[in-house]
Amino acid sequence: MIPQEFIQSLLGRVDIVDVVDRYVKLKKAGANFSACCPFHNEKTPSFTVSPTKQFYHCFGCGAHGNAIGFLMEYSGLAYPEAIRSLAETVGMAVPETSSRPVHGASAPAPGLAARMMDALSYYRAELKKSKAAIEYLKGRGLSGEIAARYGLGYAPDGWQNLEEVFTDYGTASLKDTGLVIDSEPDDSHPERKSRRYDRFRNRVMFPILDARGNVIGFGGRVIGAGEPKYLNSPETPLFEKGRELYGLYQARRAIRDANQVIVVEGYMDVVALAQHGVENAVATLGTATTPVHVAKLLKLADNVVFCFDGDAAGRKAAWRALEVSLPVLSDGKVVSFLFLPPEDDPDTFVRRQGKEAFASALLAAKPLSQFLFSELAGHADMASEEGRARFLAEAKPLLAQIEAPALSAMLRRRLAEIAKLTPEEIDRLLPAPARESRSPRTPARVVRHAISAPDRQLLALLLARPGLVGSIPDEVLDGPGTDAGALRAAVEFFRQEPGRTLGQASAYFEGSEHQAAIVDALAEPLLKQAESPDFDYGSEANGLVEKMGEERRARRATELLRLMEAGEATPEQKAEFQAHHARLATAKSGNPAPEGRSKL
Ligand code: UTP
Ligand code: MN
Repeated sequence: MIPQEFIQSLLGRVDIVDVVDRYVKLKKAGANFSACCPFHNEKTPSFTVSPTKQFYHCFGCGAHGNAIGFLMEYSGLAYPEAIRSLAETVGMAVPETSSRPVHGASAPAPGLAARMMDALSYYRAELKKSKAAIEYLKGRGLSGEIAARYGLGYAPDGWQNLEEVFTDYGTASLKDTGLVIDSEPDDSHPERKSRRYDRFRNRVMFPILDARGNVIGFGGRVIGAGEPKYLNSPETPLFEKGRELYGLYQARRAIRDANQVIVVEGYMDVVALAQHGVENAVATLGTATTPVHVAKLLKLADNVVFCFDGDAAGRKAAWRALEVSLPVLSDGKVVSFLFLPPEDDPDTFVRRQGKEAFASALLAAKPLSQFLFSELAGHADMASEEGRARFLAEAKPLLAQIEAPALSAMLRRRLAEIAKLTPEEIDRLLPAPARESRSPRTPARVVRHAISAPDRQLLALLLARPGLVGSIPDEVLDGPGTDAGALRAAVEFFRQEPGRTLGQASAYFEGSEHQAAIVDALAEPLLKQAESPDFDYGSEANGLVEKMGEERRARRATELLRLMEAGEATPEQKAEFQAHHARLATAKSGNPAPEGRSKL
């Protein structure tokens, strides 16, 4: 949705070294910069950032990408968000072409985000002035530091306090913030007009931030007892409850470090856990867990633990989370469930028992499979055939949703054991879902690699040194195969404008048919050799061009031979074949034949 030309000029403007250095301290190492990789655990630096390529690469874990990709990986930002954030740093305005409409509405009104930020500043300033609110938060064990980290504030008592913040308090568009309410006109008293008033009054305010740290909504808690206990922003053009997770902005770093995210139910749970050093927790916003939530979480970490109250409501919420997790699970991801004692929620638990106790409770969390089967078995009389049949009937639609092949296979085996059937009987009763769509890629790739090495190597060199584009003649660009196609596309891309970098190319080919070939080329071992100071890109590239020329001529000779054998060759074609033949003969007697094809 953001035009490619903009992305290209953005990447031409920012310097990836500055971008990365803001988060990871870089050291100069020759022409590049290096650091310990932020994407995996290591003691010696194998993460490098190249200013000429405008690309980062970790030799340890293989992570790589351009400045946009780094922000996405490091901060968990979505693609457009990462672009916006980068654009801000260099003062470029992102051209807006119809972004995701919320509720079919048009794009958010201009200034909405700024208004939310103004409201936050106001609430925070008010908290500093309110003894009662400060006492309340202190009474719940929160330090000023944590209150600041989560941007906690206070909405004072009174009906129109926000007039102080918004000089246009009466304007229609202010309603989009969700911070004001218009009273219903009273039909029996038509002279009484609709009045506008503040939604949040005399409440402790919890700002809800999006992934970039923008305020998109608020939750407000009464001080002490009162109804409703929490009042939340309504859905607005900025805020869609089913997509957002409270605390994600603050937790992102810790989630990545722990490769685990803890999902709890309440605002206070998140904040209290952070207060006690458990920083990787987020909360759903008073709604059931949605597939969007789970997909978001599984992108951030391999381990997701849902931590719900031990009561009936908590179990119900957990079951719902299980249901929405099934279709998005993949092998390598672990979803589990932690049920606290009925009298506790994460807030009270961690306050009473501390971080260590919470950490050991986490270790004992029930894996999804165990929770699934124990719940189902709890509904049926597993001692009788009828009961086990019912158990199977309930398990069937749930298991059918799991696409992760290994997990699915193991659950089916376990199901057989519990139901006292053989695996064959289970296969008959619950046919394994067909998954053709997932597999064909791998074998195709293996074959492709075996036959197109020089194309891929040349593509790799070109991506690393776009300046080589001048020494790649058109004649070698007509080869068959995916790598040759990607090479053609890359040559065309770099020819268009001198000075383009790998970072720009990777943005350009993102999501295109050539992306896979480009990713493969970047993993090409030749690039590892190229790290050595006496590697000569120019002569390596020339060697490959020559090799590809040979391959091309050999292909042509084979084609001509086929025509001659079929008796279809014209005299010109026959002559052409003779010429090829003669060339090959001199090559053999003179220089050794090129070794390119010998691997076939
Ligand atoms: P809880 O009732 O479990 O509250 O609601 P809590 O987080 O333990 O709150 P404290 O400890 O009493 O302050 C869990 C979540 O459900 C939503 C809120 O998001 C809350 O954090 N909720 C609850 C509401 O939206 N409105 C309510 O009236 C109550
Ligand atoms: Mn609580």
